[in-house]
Amino acid sequence: MSSPVLSSDPPDDLARACIAGAARDPDADFSLPGWIYTDPEFFEVERDRVIRPSWQIVCHQNDVASPGDYRTIDYGGESVIVVRGDDGVVRAFANVCRHRAMRLVEGPAGCARKLVCPYHAWTYETDGRLTGVPMRGDYPALKLEQSGLAPVAIEVWRGFVFVRLEDGGFPSVAQMMAPYEAEVAPYRFEDMQRMGDLRVRPRAVNWKNVGDNYSDNLHIPVAHDGLTRIFGKSYGIAAQDWVDRMSGELVDRPSDNFWERFYQAHLPHLPHLPEQAQRRWLYYKLWPNMAFDIYADQIDFMQWLPVSATTCVLREMTYALPDAFTPPGKQREMKLLRYANWRINRVVNQEDTWLIERVQQGMASKTYGAGPIGRSEVCLRSFAVKIRTIIPEARQTHAPAPGWSKT
Ligand code: FES
Ligand SMILES: [Fe+2]
Repeated sequence: MSSPVLSSDPPDDLARACIAGAARDPDADFSLPGWIYTDPEFFEVERDRVIRPSWQIVCHQNDVASPGDYRTIDYGGESVIVVRGDDGVVRAFANVCRHRAMRLVEGPAGCARKLVCPYHAWTYETDGRLTGVPMRGDYPALKLEQSGLAPVAIEVWRGFVFVRLEDGGFPSVAQMMAPYEAEVAPYRFEDMQRMGDLRVRPRAVNWKNVGDNYSDNLHIPVAHDGLTRIFGKSYGIAAQDWVDRMSGELVDRPSDNFWERFYQAHLPHLPHLPEQAQRRWLYYKLWPNMAFDIYADQIDFMQWLPVSATTCVLREMTYALPDAFTPPGKQREMKLLRYANWRINRVVNQEDTWLIERVQQGMASKTYGAGPIGRSEVCLRSFAVKIRTIIPEARQTHAPAPGWSKT
């Protein structure tokens, strides 16, 4: 048997259908129905049609700077390892031994000169080749050169490493972000370094609830007092085909909250950023479940990985440019500023967690079908039309009889 490749040719023009659907969706004025946030069968269908064929962020290429450095990500029924080879190339593989399917590596990160299986010690090079098999002559069917690790599709966009389990016809990260390349470029993502460890936080909600809330604009003035104090009325949203853009401009009027006021007062002018970016908080949500929070002082990526129909995990990392990009003498201030940023956004996260857990509970109510959706809610509309195009049963306000996906 040759080594299976987890990616294949694009099967159809699903991506175009998603875009075209936005113009003529008969359900455009309704949200997605509650049952698809709790239904185990829908969960399996969207795992196969939405999550496995979509790009997922794993890390930054600077997180795997040396040969043998690796990072892993577990989702969609797979564990994937991203590893830098001895030749300097970053590749992705299924974290599965070709002998008896043992997990090759454990944990989110590490470094290995060779990948040695802990079960029977088969040994793989960092480029995936199988080169060591104890009692090699004992396996009549073994062909070493065809038993390398199963490759997984990889994309590097502005220094960030993404993987994809299958090709479902969705655009690349670069294609999704194309409308905003000029806006992103000055931030110099490629030069960034990780600040702190990977954060993985379980949430008792369907993954779609995290994304819906992330690009929901109407709740900002209602539920986020801090953001309202620092943005005033400047918060705005826009939906491109595969990326939502949210942004707020820091107001000059000092907040009555200490850390917000500190941040307002101490954000230095950063020479690498254009004027309009100096005091802007910018957010991109990429199809279907990941986002970049972009501040002048640092950026975060966040993804919400499905675990079950009613649970997911948030997976996050923070990155910033090296000190050389901070104006001379301002390095210590920048450290405090990043701490202030964390304090402000920790409150925002708590507020959002409170909201989405309660929405999740409401979605489970038999009284809830689908809600009306406002014209201004362009991001929620954009996501809903894609889900309805990819899984037409999402047009039904209540769950079909079990087995609907098998017929
Ligand atoms: S399962 Fe990996 S060496 Fe046997
Ligand atoms: Fe929020």
